[in-house]
Amino acid sequence: MLPTDLPGLTLKDAERQKKIIELVSPLILTETQQVRMREVFLDEMRLGLAASPEKKSSLLMENTFIPELPDGTENGEYLSLDLGGTNFRVIYVLLEKGKAKKEMVDFYHVPQEKRMGPGDELFDFLADCLSDFIHKRNFQGRHFELGFTFSFPMTQKSLDVGLLVSWTKSFNCPGTVGHDAVKMLNDAIQRRGDLDITVTAILNDTTGTLVMGAAMDRRCALGMILGTGCNGCYIEKVSRIEKWRGKHTEDEMVVDIEWGAFGDNGVLDFIKTQWDRAVDDQSLLVNSYTFEKYFAGKYMGDLYREVLLTLAKNGLFCAASVESHKEGGILAKHGAITTTNISHIESNTFEGKQDVTKELLTTLGLKFDDDDVTIAQYMAGLLSYRGILMVSLLVGLLLKRMEREHCTVAIDGSLFRRHPRFRPLMEKLIAEFAPGRHFNLLETEDGSGKGAALTAAIARRLRTKELR
Ligand code: GLC
Repeated sequence: MLPTDLPGLTLKDAERQKKIIELVSPLILTETQQVRMREVFLDEMRLGLAASPEKKSSLLMENTFIPELPDGTENGEYLSLDLGGTNFRVIYVLLEKGKAKKEMVDFYHVPQEKRMGPGDELFDFLADCLSDFIHKRNFQGRHFELGFTFSFPMTQKSLDVGLLVSWTKSFNCPGTVGHDAVKMLNDAIQRRGDLDITVTAILNDTTGTLVMGAAMDRRCALGMILGTGCNGCYIEKVSRIEKWRGKHTEDEMVVDIEWGAFGDNGVLDFIKTQWDRAVDDQSLLVNSYTFEKYFAGKYMGDLYREVLLTLAKNGLFCAASVESHKEGGILAKHGAITTTNISHIESNTFEGKQDVTKELLTTLGLKFDDDDVTIAQYMAGLLSYRGILMVSLLVGLLLKRMEREHCTVAIDGSLFRRHPRFRPLMEKLIAEFAPGRHFNLLETEDGSGKGAALTAAIARRLRTKELR
């Protein structure tokens, strides 16, 4: 089977095959649904860019205050912070002519009580990590400019002011929504009193990825994250951003779409299945980030488990494991299967093997027959296919909108990196959805580190221009 085919199911038991295909058919997006999704996304973009929209868009379409990309003149030492997942990073980058000549990174685990506790405590923790990093390297007493990658929705007021719109993924700290993340970090740095650091830029991880991509390939105009969460940003003509009319003199600006929230106003409900509802109900922030929950890394494992659970309850999957789908059973347990498991199953499928899949089913304590293994691989393929299709639809629309001769799409994130179907299938589908548009997918690494340092360097350049 080619990696870009819609997965098919062939079982020994033809009756079982028929029932399964019927049951999971809502997960296969029809042509009509795809057309509708395109129309809805374009309309949400229009509303998100409008000066006085007739209704609220689920897309933030937010200003990043980045009007220009790296041009190879970026020099100097910078610090970056990367907050978005359960691992927080502090990074030192030495830039020479736009290239990172030296880099030092420390990882810090953000414990759950910090991710869910009062905001002050979270930001104090970040400042503590920063201080630890500085002391370990004997950088005390030195001044640094810092680029802060804050991978959450923000309303930016300038390159160094970002008001938190809402938490996503695995964070939910009370008392922070509406507050400026730069100020919260600066205040925490002040409270410590032992650091001479100025946060000069705050950015989303997609923006860091686009900036990083542009440093590698000047034709880059779209940045994406396919990881725990999913989001994209692109270069928009300021003349097309009605809501900013009169506010900007620049020709172009990087816009953070926050497409993870696409559908939070119900516009995507026409593709929502019972399994999507179940995943949302179990999530930390219910009724938010609809699009992201359809396939992103934080959610696809549970989506997969929910589908298998339904099949099991209907006697169509692992029928010998009677306890698996009862309360307390493995298939009913949130988090029992991860998206990494899905990537492994998919790799196994593409090798034409089943060993890894069988091993996983065994680890889960499931008793399985040959058809069960085939079903486990089929479902991993089907859910992955749906997610890739959805994200490719959006990329196709953006390529058409940007009308560039060639557009390099910078992508970072574990889902894209580890999952074997993403790259080949995205390449195929985007080409179908944006016929005649030239593009390439560029896997970038470390947009949140090097990209943030480059953004801090751009911030410095912009300040110098202003002073002239
Ligand atoms: C979530 C965040 C978004 C981020 C994405 C990828 O969707 O809201 O800001 O870019 O995750 O990390």
